[in-house]
Amino acid sequence: MCKVLSVVNQKGGVGKTTTALNLGYALSEKGKKVLLIDLDPQGSLTISCGYDDNDNLETTIATLMALTMEDRLLPGKNNYILTVGSMDLVPCNIELSAIEVSLVNAMSREMILKAISGELKENYDYVIIDCSPSLGMLTINALAACNGVLIPVTPEYLSAKGLELLLKNILKLKRGLIRVLK
Ligand SMILES: Nc1ncnc2c1ncn2[C@@H]1O[C@H](COP(=O)(O)OP(=O)(O)O)[C@@H](O)[C@H]1O
Ligand SMILES: [Mg+2]
Repeated sequence: MCKVLSVVNQKGGVGKTTTALNLGYALSEKGKKVLLIDLDPQGSLTISCGYDDNDNLETTIATLMALTMEDRLLPGKNNYILTVGSMDLVPCNIELSAIEVSLVNAMSREMILKAISGELKENYDYVIIDCSPSLGMLTINALAACNGVLIPVTPEYLSAKGLELLLKNILKLKRGLIRVLK
């Protein structure tokens, strides 16, 4: 069964993108099939994977989310899945920030990414989602799509306080989402 992991922390600069990329690489070196999904409008994971002209990419996770919100079919996988060594990547660019705004009024707004990852995950052992430093709709989508969460933290007092808040929010979301699913 595919494991879908979200790398989350509402603080920036704690190592989310680094963890997503390096964990993905380590798993792929062990022969696992890995898909990375960049869900940060800053596109740091996409850029770290060598696609630094990401603003010119035609199809990104933003495109897939827009199509899913409109109940339209996704394009063929070779139109948007990029290769990073032996891993695959669904890239991202700044267009995702506009999607975050339109998600607010979308039907089943928490479940858009889950619908996309549900279609993709059958081909992989691991799907790793790199989140943005916020607890907005994009991160909520990542939490709804995953069956495991990784929270990189820096060993500092305020960072630990932030972790308490994040865990509380994850529990709240879990209860809320379970109600949504029912
Ligand atoms: N384990 C680590 N040890 C030292 N520096 C790290 C480690 N993980 C990440 N970094 C550095 O910290 C900075 C922020 O990491 P990044 O993965 O971009 O964080 P985030 O995605 O949470 O914003 C980067 O410069 C990165 O190279
Ligand atoms: Mg990052």
